[in-house]
Amino acid sequence: MFDVSAVRATYPALADGFAYLDGAAGTQTPQPVIDAIADAYRTGIGNVGGTFPASHRSDGIVAECRRAVADLVGGDPGGVVLGPNMTTLTYRLANTLATGWGPGDEIVVSRLDHDANIRPWLQVAQRAGVTVRSAQVDLSTGELPIGQYRELIGEQTRLVAVTAASNVLGTRPDVAAITAIGHAAGAVCYVDGVHATAHGPVDMRALGADFYATSSYKWSGPHIGAVVARPELLEELRPDKLAPAPDQVPDRFETGTSPFADFAGVVAAVEHLASLDPAATGTRRERLLASTAAAEAHEQQLFGDLLAALAAMPHVTLYGSAARRTATAYFTVAGWEPGKVAEELAAARVNVWSGHSYAWELTGDLGIRDLGGAVRAGLVHYNDRSDIDRLIAAIADLGSRS
Ligand SMILES: Cc1ncc(COP(=O)(O)O)c(C=O)c1O
Repeated sequence: MFDVSAVRATYPALADGFAYLDGAAGTQTPQPVIDAIADAYRTGIGNVGGTFPASHRSDGIVAECRRAVADLVGGDPGGVVLGPNMTTLTYRLANTLATGWGPGDEIVVSRLDHDANIRPWLQVAQRAGVTVRSAQVDLSTGELPIGQYRELIGEQTRLVAVTAASNVLGTRPDVAAITAIGHAAGAVCYVDGVHATAHGPVDMRALGADFYATSSYKWSGPHIGAVVARPELLEELRPDKLAPAPDQVPDRFETGTSPFADFAGVVAAVEHLASLDPAATGTRRERLLASTAAAEAHEQQLFGDLLAALAAMPHVTLYGSAARRTATAYFTVAGWEPGKVAEELAAARVNVWSGHSYAWELTGDLGIRDLGGAVRAGLVHYNDRSDIDRLIAAIADLGSRS
């Protein structure tokens, strides 16, 4: 059971009359998340590890935040590393993992990925003298063919980095098949779940992710990132850290003082996602699986209608047609630069993104990166039919004006 009107009513920002189709760049925040952050500050929080109640409250928030993120992705709370965003955490993990690499070693990245799951690996590989291999995208469909991974991965492969969903084409590659090949060769698999997490149930173990990265601002939370791994795997790694900073896992991967109030917001965001299907019962993990599946069905239904309408417009070129994809449309409009389309849509009170959206290699391969990329209209659980109807009407209007 999924009631989009009830969901929308919990998001104060949606009352401003804009169609928020920019969720792939960051979602709006529901009232319980806003309240949780304000309540943490109102109640009083201290730094962690102290003797007084305000400090204990922060200790509790950190522990609860790890539990919430673990529930969301199907991981272990003891392996949840929290940080400012996925990019920062990925650089930290890349630098740490690469201390064990050297010439003769190889890593495999994919050209479908956001640059945050490519560039950090390339840069540390270059410093370590490691060979980089790249998985290519089938540009006619946006699929990431699996067969190539049997050629790309070998005994010398130390790491396979791949996205669970493209942030522009929406493609959901067969991550489980890729990680199975990686694991058979003894490689570690780093899965970018930043785009995927917002669009359906996540089970990082089923994906075979040794590391699963996500960012709460893509799923109704504050600007916080997390990388989830098995605690035993984190135990093997030694990130750079200050001498007096905690040495236990996962704390030793977290630098400096954390934004504890925002962590309280992350917990509220996970609770919010778990409540999207009010009929869902059981543990929070069970409610999350049911609720995110219900939200995904809602998104996909709207997305099917949006794609059909855009495909019927001769002045629209759609990119990507993968068999499994998130509700993310990426398109150009004949006679209009993507940035200009976004401006016209903003004037029609429709929020979309335009450009390469950091899918740097992919948009380069598609030949559109230097042409302003394309327009991205992404649906999330709070979008409704009026949002897509307004987008469709505005794009149809551009056709008559080009
Ligand atoms: C698929 C994907 N990966 C990584 C990132 C980077 O995430 P963050 O902003 O948390 O560094 C983004 C952000 O848009 C993304 O969409």
